[in-house]
Amino acid sequence: MALPSARVVRILALLAVLPTAVWAGFALTQANIQTSLAHGPLIAAHDGVACVACHSKTPGTVRQQVQAQVRYVLGLRETPVDFGYAAVQSDQCLACHARPNERHPIYRFREPRFAAAVQKVEARSCLGCHSEHHPQTVTASPMVCQACHGDLLVKNDPVDVSHVTLVAQENWSSCLGCHDFHGNHAFKAPRKLAKALPENAIWAYFQGGADPYGHPKLYEGKAP
Ligand code: HEC
Ligand code: HEC
Ligand code: HEC
Ligand code: HEC
Ligand code: HEC
Repeated sequence: MALPSARVVRILALLAVLPTAVWAGFALTQANIQTSLAHGPLIAAHDGVACVACHSKTPGTVRQQVQAQVRYVLGLRETPVDFGYAAVQSDQCLACHARPNERHPIYRFREPRFAAAVQKVEARSCLGCHSEHHPQTVTASPMVCQACHGDLLVKNDPVDVSHVTLVAQENWSSCLGCHDFHGNHAFKAPRKLAKALPENAIWAYFQGGADPYGHPKLYEGKAP
């Protein structure tokens, strides 16, 4: 028996995923079944944030999307369709977290001089260091500063163990003890290494624990 053609395989594959896709699109709009559909709970700080705040709707009704996908399978349309909801993007985060004082704005890292650095850490997107539906507040490594600050030289360095020394010792886990990443916490960097926040407090924070930098913050996320 001859093998089915590529197009037949694509049509069969479409028929197989359609019920799930339509169900998922429907379920995202129904509060009572939303939580069961998600991969895991939101981080505590996002309690009350609606699914659609991050999962923006794609254009068209479910019926139009199905029709467009059928056209794609039949070769009448160039690109496949995002069913119901588009991939989460930084724009959705920035709608609530835009901060004029941002120390490391993601757009800066689209410059060509950061091409090598963004291979190590995807600093052009919030999702390079954060995610959702699991407990971690920050998914990046606490050593992430290494990707960009290898030639760090602070003029009139006020710290008792200079930045040049810290870098030479590859003490990258010290950085977050004295600096937050976004510069959004209202605190002053200490000048003595002994006063730095302990590494385990930062690690626990990344895993979903208490924020060791404390309040106030200069900008709070927009309330849901
Ligand atoms: C604060 C932002 C945010 C909120 C709120 C949110 N999500 Fe998500 N969701 C994400 C991110 C980030 C991912 C990872 C996949 C991605 O990058 O698109 C994701 C992934 C998913 C996935 C897997 C999709 C896939 O393509 O793998 C489902 C299903 C999902 N979310 C459902 C929900 C539901 C249901 C709710 C409401 C209870 C919700 N989400 C609320 C950010 C969010
Ligand atoms: C509807 C508004 C809204 C959206 C959309 C949103 N957030 Fe938040 N986020 C908040 C609020 C409110 C808080 C709690 C106040 C604060 O910590 O600033 C928060 C807190 C956080 C925290 C700190 C958690 C902690 O425990 O310290 C992180 C990290 C975060 N958001 C990342 C993101 C990312 C990444 C996205 C996009 C995937 C996103 N947020 C989308 C409103 C939002
Ligand atoms: C290169 C990694 C990286 C990227 C990219 C990144 N973050 Fe963060 N983020 C961190 C780290 C590390 C922390 C913990 C230290 C701190 O609080 O600044 C953090 C903390 C936060 C917090 C809690 C503290 C605060 O500033 O209120 C929020 C909210 C947040 N990030 C939102 C975002 C959003 C929104 C984006 C995209 C516009 C983003 N982050 C991109 C690494 C990153
Ligand atoms: C993707 C590259 C990248 C990563 C990763 C990165 N930085 Fe930076 N950082 C920069 C750039 C670029 C500047 C701006 C330097 C300038 O303006 O001369 C900067 C500036 C800073 C400043 C000075 C901000 C100011 O107000 O002058 C501090 C402090 C800082 N970074 C700390 C950190 C810490 C701590 C980490 C790790 C958690 C880190 N950075 C990770 C690229 C990065
Ligand atoms: C003991 C605390 C401490 C540690 C550890 C530390 N710093 Fe600093 N850092 C400071 C202080 C204090 C300044 C002076 C400016 C200020 O007060 O913010 C500074 C300045 C800087 C600046 C320049 C800011 C500017 O305004 O020009 C950068 C960039 C920086 N640090 C990055 C890092 C990185 C990357 C690491 C990890 C290798 C690190 N720091 C470790 C305390 C610390």
